[in-house]
Amino acid sequence: MEERIKLTEKSYALGSENLKKFGVTEEAIQLANASVKSMTKIVSKSKELGSMLKLLLKNKASYRFNHCQLISCVAFHMVYKMPWSSKEQTEKISYVAYFHDILLESDEEVKIHTNSQLSKLYPLNEDEQRVKQHALQAAELTLKFPNIPIGVDTIIKQHHGIKSGVGFMETPPVGLAPLAVLFIIAECFVHHLLEKGVDNINRVKIFEEMKEKYDDPKFHQAIEALKHSDV
Ligand SMILES: [Fe+2]
Ligand SMILES: [Fe+2]
Repeated sequence: MEERIKLTEKSYALGSENLKKFGVTEEAIQLANASVKSMTKIVSKSKELGSMLKLLLKNKASYRFNHCQLISCVAFHMVYKMPWSSKEQTEKISYVAYFHDILLESDEEVKIHTNSQLSKLYPLNEDEQRVKQHALQAAELTLKFPNIPIGVDTIIKQHHGIKSGVGFMETPPVGLAPLAVLFIIAECFVHHLLEKGVDNINRVKIFEEMKEKYDDPKFHQAIEALKHSDV
């Protein structure tokens, strides 16, 4: 498993560089397919989420890759707790996780979740615009890939809670796809995990803070799914 994680991280990094330099080439398609397949395999072995999270956090892979793989694991388990759970929904998870931040350049950019964090990192320059657009552009990119499940582009576009895919949510958004809501909650939890480690986070406090921040029935349902996912 550790070997698979290392190889998947390498193919993720290569796929990301390739895509940014050359666009959607045959090589980019192959790398994406191989990475998504491998990420899904890692997820399917994560029956005990706690030990899987520890294993992933132990590996020396980049923050960018770890956050994708961890979101896949957490979101996959959450989908099973939802009333609309289906095989089609679980199949989309690794695609969304692989592509959602693929156009970002650094770990610092991956950590940004608000407009003010973005302005702090890049005050009024072109990088700010590039980061603001990363969800929309990644979503458009996936449409050029063959055999990607229908609807993956919508979830990628909405992964920062903005329907247009440009910018970061300020208030709890309405009208998002249910899988996008679930993805946002999974990602929020993963950022806590990566910051503090699996043994050091206060789950009760995190769940309460999330409920306050995302004060909306759809989000609350996703938070309940997270609570009951053995994370
Ligand atoms: Fe992300
Ligand atoms: Fe993002």
